[in-house]
Amino acid sequence: MKIDNICKKVLVSEEEIQATVKKIGEQISKDYDGEEVTMIGLLNGCNPFFSDLLKHIDLLIEVDYMRASSYHGSIKSSNEVLILKDLDKSIKGKNVIVVDDIIDTGETLKCIIELLKLKGAKTIEACVLLDKDIKRNVAYKPKYIGLKIPKEFVVGYGLDYNEHYRNLPYIGAVKDEVYTKEENNNE
Ligand code: IMP
Ligand code: MG
Repeated sequence: MKIDNICKKVLVSEEEIQATVKKIGEQISKDYDGEEVTMIGLLNGCNPFFSDLLKHIDLLIEVDYMRASSYHGSIKSSNEVLILKDLDKSIKGKNVIVVDDIIDTGETLKCIIELLKLKGAKTIEACVLLDKDIKRNVAYKPKYIGLKIPKEFVVGYGLDYNEHYRNLPYIGAVKDEVYTKEENNNE
């Protein structure tokens, strides 16, 4: 893509993303066969993963969204999770699946899931497209994971760098000099 001046390589192609999303959707449909599920997308990163995933779920579902922020638009995680938008509907007694683009430190998902427990959901699981290969302090593993990726900062298919590049149809690893520049600026 013309706008892509930030990636050093494509990590996950459009075709691989689509095949992975289909597989997760089919697994969810099988696991919850005969039940209703509330699908909760974490904005903004869940887009377009969330909308593609929903098309492969053959169940009666409700859709809702939350927005949490742990990155403040930058490359480094801040360990502090803020809820910027809460659910519109009640999830009391419902099967819930929280959908996010990527699990990095796991702080965001851990915090959201604790919150959803307090709201009285019947069951809560998490679903992420990408699982970053890092040592985590948080012992939380989503039930549905699309692909494991190396410890790289990635953009595309919903993932951003300073709110840009979410519209790339593939997932690309950001060039090392972007990190170095940001690290130097933060010093
Ligand atoms: P965690 O709380 O550290 O697991 O962070 C999860 C959130 O950080 C995700 O929902 C993403 O929005 C963002 N994030 C983590 N890694 C990346 C990345 O490599 N590129 C873009 N955003 C990322
Ligand atoms: Mg996000």
